[in-house]
Amino acid sequence: MRMPRRAHDGHNAHQGPATGQAILNVEMSAFSAGCEVAVDEVGVHAVVRASGPQLPPGPSAAAARGLDAIRALAGRHAQVKLPTRPIRERFEDLIHGRALDTAEDNDQPQHLHADRLPYRVSSWRYLPSVLKASDVSPDDVFLDLGAGKGRVVYQAARYPFRRVIGVEISPLFTVVARQNLARKRRKLRCREIELITMDAAEYDIPDDVTVVYLYHPFGGETFAKVVERLAASLDRRPRQVRVIYAWPKHEETLLGTGLFRTLSERRDRGTGQIVRTYVCDAEELTADQGSAHES
Ligand SMILES: C[S@@+](CC[C@H](N)C(=O)[O-])C[C@H]1O[C@@H](n2cnc3c(N)ncnc32)[C@H](O)[C@@H]1O
Repeated sequence: MRMPRRAHDGHNAHQGPATGQAILNVEMSAFSAGCEVAVDEVGVHAVVRASGPQLPPGPSAAAARGLDAIRALAGRHAQVKLPTRPIRERFEDLIHGRALDTAEDNDQPQHLHADRLPYRVSSWRYLPSVLKASDVSPDDVFLDLGAGKGRVVYQAARYPFRRVIGVEISPLFTVVARQNLARKRRKLRCREIELITMDAAEYDIPDDVTVVYLYHPFGGETFAKVVERLAASLDRRPRQVRVIYAWPKHEETLLGTGLFRTLSERRDRGTGQIVRTYVCDAEELTADQGSAHES
């Protein structure tokens, strides 16, 4: 078998210079999805690694589209390898996620915004590793901001929450999340589940929410507005709120309010991601408000 040339030669013995265009397509589409892509080999074989500052390592729909271009050029003998989900994740999908569609394969038009991240699904372990059922009372309300296809909403609805809410910018994902939850209806403990399609920046956080979940869904102004809305809700109704933030890229905005402190941190052994929990204590808020009134 002939060894393929390095991609950055710009052309290859089997395919001619057109392959250079395919590489460019991969690199451009991956760039527009906010990730870096390295094409190692192209020819009868292409190995692409997509990762970057904005995306956790894993397959990117944009890189996959670029790879389709490679496939088209390299013909039916092309073997294209995308980085796959870690084996442990795939195994857990089989155990917990049967009948659930949480494929990370569609970028949405709503993602064409500098602040917004495309869909990546939380590991099955993130939520249970930081939240025990005994930590949740029937007065607690859970909110997933950037709920995607609803995996975490589903997991939360198996705790004794009074209400579980998911807010998602993509109407398609909300539909998929609804279908996912309908399929698992019999496994749910919480009966009041709301799935809302809207920009989290515009969502008024209800004053009964006590647990907020984020899997690095957005940054910039959007994150700042969400934190402002959370602070406004705490101001209206001081209470204990826990924020569970997986891949906490913008925690400084949350901590910068002075309302939250870090409660715990876990690094997931499977994905390497950090999941941090922050807490705002009702007593501290009431004390602060009291001293503000006195001065
Ligand atoms: C990393 S995924 C997390 C999905 C889900 N929470 C999970 O953990 O499996 C981030 C999600 O946030 C959504 N998103 C991005 N910007 C948003 C915004 N401004 N408002 C609401 N959802 C947004 C994306 O569409 C995507 O589904």
